[in-house]
Amino acid sequence: MTQEGVVVMRERIFFTRRIPSKGIEILKKDYELHIREDESIPTKEEIIDGIVGCEGLVCLLTDPIDRDVLSSPDLKFVSTYAAGYNNIDVTFASSRKIPVTNAPGALTETTADIAFALLLSAGRRVVEGDRFLREGSFHGWSPMLLLGQDIHGKTLGIVGAGRIGGALARRAVGFRMNILYYNRKPDPVLERETGAVYTPFDQLLCNSDFVSLHTPLTRETEHIISAREFGLMKKKAVFINTSRGPCVNENDLVKALESGDIWAAGLDVFEREPLVDERLLCMDNVVLLPHLGSASFDTRTGMAVTACTNMAMMLAGKRPPNIINPEVYSDIRI
Ligand code: DGY
Repeated sequence: MTQEGVVVMRERIFFTRRIPSKGIEILKKDYELHIREDESIPTKEEIIDGIVGCEGLVCLLTDPIDRDVLSSPDLKFVSTYAAGYNNIDVTFASSRKIPVTNAPGALTETTADIAFALLLSAGRRVVEGDRFLREGSFHGWSPMLLLGQDIHGKTLGIVGAGRIGGALARRAVGFRMNILYYNRKPDPVLERETGAVYTPFDQLLCNSDFVSLHTPLTRETEHIISAREFGLMKKKAVFINTSRGPCVNENDLVKALESGDIWAAGLDVFEREPLVDERLLCMDNVVLLPHLGSASFDTRTGMAVTACTNMAMMLAGKRPPNIINPEVYSDIRI
């Protein structure tokens, strides 16, 4: 582009995947966008090649953003189109003064919707019933056909009642559920709004009919639910995971379902995603979704707007609202 004969170099941004256009529009006018059109998950090498000459990287939760990627000499800003950022080596990014942002707020309600959908469908055998009917097994109403667990009046235990866990609690109020929650510290606002009761972890597991996991994946939360925790749950418990697969020991989950230590599970995420343990695929008491937590038209658009606004602000030298590593701005007066 020329302005009065002067060539103006536009900063470049690499997108590891195409995201909804409302986000792209925010950056299109002022920056040179390089969008990888392939729908597959990029390898680290593809990302490294893609960011050559790019100051900005817009990535997804599937992309390995490790030291090698973050060492790219041109890279200055990273914006992830996701709430979770366990795929990014944020500590290393900070050491290189690379700000990293995420897109948390946009997906809160939609992810809570899917957690509640899993709770309902695993508890009331909705998907199993659908399969049963389609395969021609329905020959008339029967007193004992596909009996499930009531939702209303039962106890929901929320492990990690942050934004999404809190939104799940508000849904549970409408179903007249009793709500227990476990966090690093009590949340008086949540308690006031929903009647949720702060409960130590083990006690929550022992007393809940439904256990829903909402912790981010960190070193501390990896396998936070394993054989010991399934052992503490009620035999009638329904376990829901919409956070990150590796927060749960999937082998222990399979064993708990096989042995009847818990009654059912609803899963949107998997330990070795996109691989799913073959044994889960054969179980009727498990509802499986392909990581659809935030998958609504409006929410994915909202996430794109957030991710691209974050990037635009960083490129304009401003501190973005969703900064994960604020320490990179510590020596800058805003
Ligand atoms: C996220 O953004 O972390 C969610 O898992 C997407 O569904």
